[in-house]
Amino acid sequence: MEYRFLGNSGLKVSALSFGAWVTFGDQIDEDLAYKSMKAAYDAGVNFFDNAEAYAGGQAETMMGNILQKTGWKRSDLVLSTKIFWGGEGPNDLGLSFKHIIEGANAALQRLQTDYVDLIYCHRPDVHTPIEETVRAMNQVIREGKAFYWGTSEWSAEQIREAYHIARRDHLQPPTMEQPQYNMFHREKVEGDFKPLYDEIGLGTTIWSPLASGLLTGKYNNGIPEDSRLSMEKYDWLRERLIESDSGQRKLEKVKKLAPIADELDMAMPQLALAWCLKNPNVSTVITGASKPEQVEQNMKTIDMVDRMTPDVMRRIEDILDNKPEGADDFRAM
Ligand SMILES: NC(=O)c1ccc[n+]([C@@H]2O[C@H](COP(=O)([O-])OP(=O)(O)OC[C@H]3O[C@@H](n4cnc5c(N)ncnc54)[C@H](OP(=O)(O)O)[C@@H]3O)[C@@H](O)[C@H]2O)c1
Repeated sequence: MEYRFLGNSGLKVSALSFGAWVTFGDQIDEDLAYKSMKAAYDAGVNFFDNAEAYAGGQAETMMGNILQKTGWKRSDLVLSTKIFWGGEGPNDLGLSFKHIIEGANAALQRLQTDYVDLIYCHRPDVHTPIEETVRAMNQVIREGKAFYWGTSEWSAEQIREAYHIARRDHLQPPTMEQPQYNMFHREKVEGDFKPLYDEIGLGTTIWSPLASGLLTGKYNNGIPEDSRLSMEKYDWLRERLIESDSGQRKLEKVKKLAPIADELDMAMPQLALAWCLKNPNVSTVITGASKPEQVEQNMKTIDMVDRMTPDVMRRIEDILDNKPEGADDFRAM
């Protein structure tokens, strides 16, 4: 495994990490979740991602039970949670001081740990002043319940504002952002956030590197029965990802990428993950899996990144044809 610094912090995260969305609590049971986490850990993964919203808290409970069972040393792990969607009550939602403190405490109980290493604002909250959120995150860190805080799906402007408030008031600034990033979703990571990598030392823990499985090629000829997009609860995702016109265009591109993967002796998921790993502004690629075999296949990617030569990257770019305006051409390096 390769370990990368999380932005300009001193924390090292495994370049490939593992998260619980969709799977833990909704799709797989604790035994399968344990086997998947163990496969990730055995491959050198130290960062495990979670959120209070995942399966209504069940994903954290499951991960907490698994961590108890494994007895892995706490200091070897980087655990996270994300706060925003905490329940049905008027104060269970969003980024108020109250919900951040109460949401963090409840997540720690479910995860059966005294602290998470990373805590995120799972979305921006237009109803709460960013200053209130910065103060709350600072408080969580002061109490030793988290070490670093960050954002997820915030705009560059919102991140910059939080950073400057924190600096002005001598509070802990955000360290990392958790954006979607994959071959089909590049605007923020390669475009909007570009100045922030130097300006504030922003780290990125990117999600859905396989576009929920689209980039594995498994949806090229229909929807396999045991796949994410066959789940009723994720009808909205299926419509967005493959049934829309843009989804159909993406599927065509996936088909065109397959010969490149073959030529490099890589599986399609490995090609898509290696493409994300090539970006030096990505601190860690958070993978997801419904089966331990997928984890094993995905983790092998770490030894394949050097197959992504400038020529290969250019051929992929030609197929994708979606490079954001002003994005660096680091891929040719
Ligand atoms: N901050 C946010 O808002 C946010 C949002 C989403 C996710 N996340 C985080 O990012 C993590 C990863 O996101 P994601 O699960 O959407 O990632 P993804 O890599 O895009 O999709 C993972 C899914 O693809 C399929 N898959 C994975 N490896 C495969 C392989 N080798 N062969 C065939 N199929 C494979 C599996 O689904 P099936 O087997 O069921 O088809 C798996 O559950 C989440 O767990 C979560 O921690 C964060």
